[in-house]
Amino acid sequence: MPTKPTRAPKAKPTSAGSSTASGADAELIILTRKTLGEVKGRIWGQFIELGGRCINGGIFDPGSPLADEHGVRRDVFDALRELQPTHVRYPGGCGVAYFDWQELVGPVEERPRAKLFRMTRVPQSTAFGIPEAYDYCKRLGAELYLTVNAHTQTPQDAGYLVEYLNGTTPTKWADLRRKHGREEPYNVKLFGLGNEIYGTWQPGYKTPEEYVAWCKEAIQEMKAVDPTIEIVVCGCGRYNPEWDRKVLKGLIDRVDMISVHNYFGRPVFKDNMAAYRVCEEMLNWLNVSVDEAMDSLLTRKIRPGLAFDEWNVWYRTTHDPLADVEEIFNKGDALTIATLFHVMLRHTKSITLSNISEAVNMVGGIFTDRERSVRQTIFYPQKLFRAKHSGRVVETVVDAPVFAAKHERFFCGIVDVKKAQDPTVPTLLHFNDVPALDALATVDEARGRLSLSVVQKLEDRPLRTKLSFRGLQPKGAKVKVHRLTGASLEVMNTLDSPHNVGLETSVQDVGEVFEFPPASLTLLEFEL
Ligand code: AHR
Repeated sequence: MPTKPTRAPKAKPTSAGSSTASGADAELIILTRKTLGEVKGRIWGQFIELGGRCINGGIFDPGSPLADEHGVRRDVFDALRELQPTHVRYPGGCGVAYFDWQELVGPVEERPRAKLFRMTRVPQSTAFGIPEAYDYCKRLGAELYLTVNAHTQTPQDAGYLVEYLNGTTPTKWADLRRKHGREEPYNVKLFGLGNEIYGTWQPGYKTPEEYVAWCKEAIQEMKAVDPTIEIVVCGCGRYNPEWDRKVLKGLIDRVDMISVHNYFGRPVFKDNMAAYRVCEEMLNWLNVSVDEAMDSLLTRKIRPGLAFDEWNVWYRTTHDPLADVEEIFNKGDALTIATLFHVMLRHTKSITLSNISEAVNMVGGIFTDRERSVRQTIFYPQKLFRAKHSGRVVETVVDAPVFAAKHERFFCGIVDVKKAQDPTVPTLLHFNDVPALDALATVDEARGRLSLSVVQKLEDRPLRTKLSFRGLQPKGAKVKVHRLTGASLEVMNTLDSPHNVGLETSVQDVGEVFEFPPASLTLLEFEL
C-alpha cells in the first residue's frame, strides 16, 4: 500500500567534520565486533485465532465482496504476505480450549457449524479449520505452528492429532486423513501444548503438577508417532516464576521451547517507552529458570529456547462480544512495538520463536470491516524491521539523556485510563533512567548492509546524536533513511483515514552527527 509523505520533520544530518561530539546531545556507539545473536529462524511470526474477528470476520469472511471462492479475504492475505511471516500460530490463544481438533478437520458440512467461544459467548465457525490454516500458511510461505487443546482434550487426543497429520501407517487416524482426501502427510512439525493454561480465564486450567503430568504423557504419545516434531510448553514469565521452575524441572528432558506471553502499554507515551524494561526483565527471569532446570539435568545438550509467542501493545480494550480486544493503535504504539522488537532481536540467542499477537482485528496489525481493510500503525515497524534487519545483531552502546517512567509488569493491557495515571499503583515498576534513545544494529555481511533502527523517545525536542562505529565502518557518502511517518503520536490509521502513518524513505548525506526528530522511529541503512 503506498504511503503518503507527511509533515513529520526531516532529519538533518550534519556533514562530517562540521560538528563534534561535544556538539551532540547523545552518542550511539555501534560495536560491530560484538555479536548478540543472529536474525534467523522463527522470529517473525503471526498469530491467527478462532476468537473475536481474527479468523472469522477477518482472515475468513465468505460474506465479504473481497473474499475469494474459498471465503478467504484477499486483501487481508495480501497485507499479511507483505510481512513475510516465518510461521503462523493457530487456532489459539484462548480459542484453542474451545475446540476438539477432530471438529476442525474433514468436510466442512460434517463439522459442527460453530463452537461457543465462552469467554465472550460468541459462536466461532469451524469452517477455517486445520487443513484451511495449513493451506493458508503454504500460500504465505510460512510454517504452521499448531496449538493443541491441552485444556479439555486428553494426551491421547494429542497423539491422535499427530497421527492424523503426519502418520504414514494404515491406521485409524492416518486413514481418516486419507478418507478426507489427503494421502500424503501434512508433516506439521511444531506444536504448542495449551495456552496460558496457568490462568483461571482458561477452561481446563491446571496446576503446574497437573500440567507436567499431562505434557509428559502427551509428548510421549505425540513423539511415538513422529519423533521429529518440536514441542512448546506453556511458561508464565516474571509474573509467576514458580510455575516456570516447576514446568521446566518436570519437562526439561523432553521440551524444545517454553512459551511466555505479555502485553504492554499505557495511555501515557513516556511510560510506554519503559515497556521494554519490563519485557527484558521478564525474559531474563525466564532464562534463569531455564538455566536452573538445565543444571538439574546435566545430560541435556541443547538448551530449550524461549517461545515469545504472544506479545503486543494492548491497553484500551477488553474481551467484548462485539469488538473483542479490537485495539486501534496510534503512532506512539508503533514506537513501542519497535522498542519491543529491539528486545526480541537483542535476545535472539535465547528467543527461538516470536509471535506478535495478533494478525487481524483482535489486537491486530490489520483491521477490517466487510468491505475494507487498513494497515494499522503497528503494521509498519513489522514491515520495516522484517525487510531491513538481517544477519548479526551487534551491540550498540547508548549514551543519551534519561527520564523517569513507570509500567505494569504483566498484561498491563487492561488497565483503565484513570488507574494508569495513578503513580502509586503497587504493581507498577518505576524506572528512573530510561535512555531517550533505543537502538538496534544488525550487520549483514552478505548483503553489505548495516541497519541501525533508533527510537527517539523525547516528545519535546530532537536529539543530535553522534554515530560512532567500532570495527566495520560504513562506506559511501550516502545513507538510506527510512522513517515512520505521522503528524503526531496520537494519529491513527482507520478505515476512513488509512494513510496517516506509513513509511517513507529518503537518501541523505552521511554525517558524523545525525538529528533524530522528537518521538520518532528511524532506520538508517548504511552500505558496508
Ligand atoms: O490475544 C488475545 C488473547 O490474549 C489470547 O487469546 C490469549 O492467549 C491472551 O490472553
